[in-house]
Amino acid sequence: MTVPIVRTIADLRSAVRAWRAAGESVSVVPTMGALHEGHLSLVRAAKEQSDRVIVTLFVNPKQFNDAGDLSDYPRTEADDAAKLAVLGVDLLYAPATSEIYPSGFTTNVSVSGVSEGLCGAARAGHFDGVATVVAKLFIQTEADLAFFGEKDFQQLQVVKRMARDLDIPIEIVACPTVRQPDGLALSSRNVQLSKAERALAPVLAQTLFAAAGRIEAGNEVATVLRDAIVALEDAGFDKVDYLELRAENGLRVLDSLIEPARLLAAAHLGETRLIDNIAVRPG
Ligand code: PAJ
Repeated sequence: MTVPIVRTIADLRSAVRAWRAAGESVSVVPTMGALHEGHLSLVRAAKEQSDRVIVTLFVNPKQFNDAGDLSDYPRTEADDAAKLAVLGVDLLYAPATSEIYPSGFTTNVSVSGVSEGLCGAARAGHFDGVATVVAKLFIQTEADLAFFGEKDFQQLQVVKRMARDLDIPIEIVACPTVRQPDGLALSSRNVQLSKAERALAPVLAQTLFAAAGRIEAGNEVATVLRDAIVALEDAGFDKVDYLELRAENGLRVLDSLIEPARLLAAAHLGETRLIDNIAVRPG
């Protein structure tokens, strides 16, 4: 079993138009590759909800603000293609950088509000890069449905807002975070962790779950957040970029649990920056 790989917008469009002409529905799962069970859960959801599934694989330079991070990003296309073939994916779209950003490319898609703070504060220009490439992938694939993980909760909100604001006729489907048994959220970056860092990494999720429980039990939010940051630092995390309670709808900062919320955090272990988030529900 193999998955057809296309590298140009023209080839992508001719495949999609043939499916459309046959009355078939189309899903897209955007990725940067180095596929793990988190990505594959999105692909399985897409398979269930549409006739055809496109997975995109593009390590998007515009969303990296550090050249070293971009060059270190794992690239495993042959392995990725083999995993997608097993799942019966219809097309792997893996364009070169010059196909997505030909010389003279100057357009930037910038979503204000939901992209501010959290990862937007720590990574200047990151969400402009995400919104720009995802808008292009939506327009290029003309998909009916697009699948994103809650693992990147702020990204999910940015993408939803972008599609709505630009009237792109696509439904964004959110999928739950896939975790290791010890709680660590699967991430392509986890392979960069040393053995000692990997042993510490689940403390991020465990701290979030404990803090969410305390907030749901009625403890003061500011105190719980402060304690959780100290707990991460004491456990050995090098730097906590943020640990915040935000409204699930719109990502406003919350200082008390008055509506469905999300506890979100980013913290560094050596060279690796881990992010995670979980739901916090009032009463
Ligand atoms: P990437 O990090 O490869 O993630 C691709 C998709 O997989 C995203 O929607 C992400 O939220 C989801 N995902 C990652 N880990 C997951 C997990 N443990 N459980 C569930 N879903 C998970 O996110 C990107 O790529 C890029 O920013 C992209 C959207 C492709 C734009 O370049």
